[in-house]
Amino acid sequence: MRDIIIAGNWKMNKDWAGSREFCSLLAEQLAPAALQGVRVIVAPPFPFLDIARQALEHSPARISAQDISSHTDGAYTGEVSAAMLASLNMPYCIVGHSERRQYHHEDGSLINQKLQRLLEQQIIPILCIGETLQEREAGQTQEILQNQLSEALDALQISQGTDIVIAYEPVWAIGTGRTATAQMAQDAHAFVRSWLSKRFGAEVASQIHILYGGSMKPENIAELIAQEDIDGGLIGGASLKLNDFMAMIHSAIAQKSK
Ligand code: PGA
Repeated sequence: MRDIIIAGNWKMNKDWAGSREFCSLLAEQLAPAALQGVRVIVAPPFPFLDIARQALEHSPARISAQDISSHTDGAYTGEVSAAMLASLNMPYCIVGHSERRQYHHEDGSLINQKLQRLLEQQIIPILCIGETLQEREAGQTQEILQNQLSEALDALQISQGTDIVIAYEPVWAIGTGRTATAQMAQDAHAFVRSWLSKRFGAEVASQIHILYGGSMKPENIAELIAQEDIDGGLIGGASLKLNDFMAMIHSAIAQKSK
């Protein structure tokens, strides 16, 4: 049985004090007993990972980095390696977000290398995939998803016990207020799971968490996570306010107890 994952992607928002305050209040408000089957993750910017980790130390919430270098170590000014994250006991790291693909021209082979670095350090990757509006309107959604999955994952050994999370984030829904309908999202998730099943086997595919991302908020989360193949959300804008983030965690708890 898969968990429901509620992951907040802060992107380039908040400062040191704001990160500490958010995480301390989150720790206070999370009741561990109620979280059965729900995983809570926050992904602050690099400089605030450690303070977030400290503030969440005695809570069930976990932290994630937002990106990682494709190199192991060496002369790469400005880069952060998977081994560095591992030294902070980092459980998760987002990789291949559409903003990285778009603004930093990350391609499938680079994303594959980043995934390898994370798996070498036992950090769980949250791999983002998704089509643009133009691609959806041209009827290319499945082709794009298939290409992105295959470029990122084909060369990897994924077997039972390899923890990896996929986030389906239609680019046209990110930060736009425009959300995929629950049916559109479910169709894309079912397609991703069937690809995973063909590539790695039904058992492995049934264990992989597939999150939806793109203008997810308290008002639309319940319908989305009620879908069979939607195992939670990677949430940007609506994860920055603690009240909204808590409301979405409560929706996940309600869904789990159905
Ligand atoms: P959004 O971002 O919730 O602000 O649309 C989601 C994401 O990019 O992960």
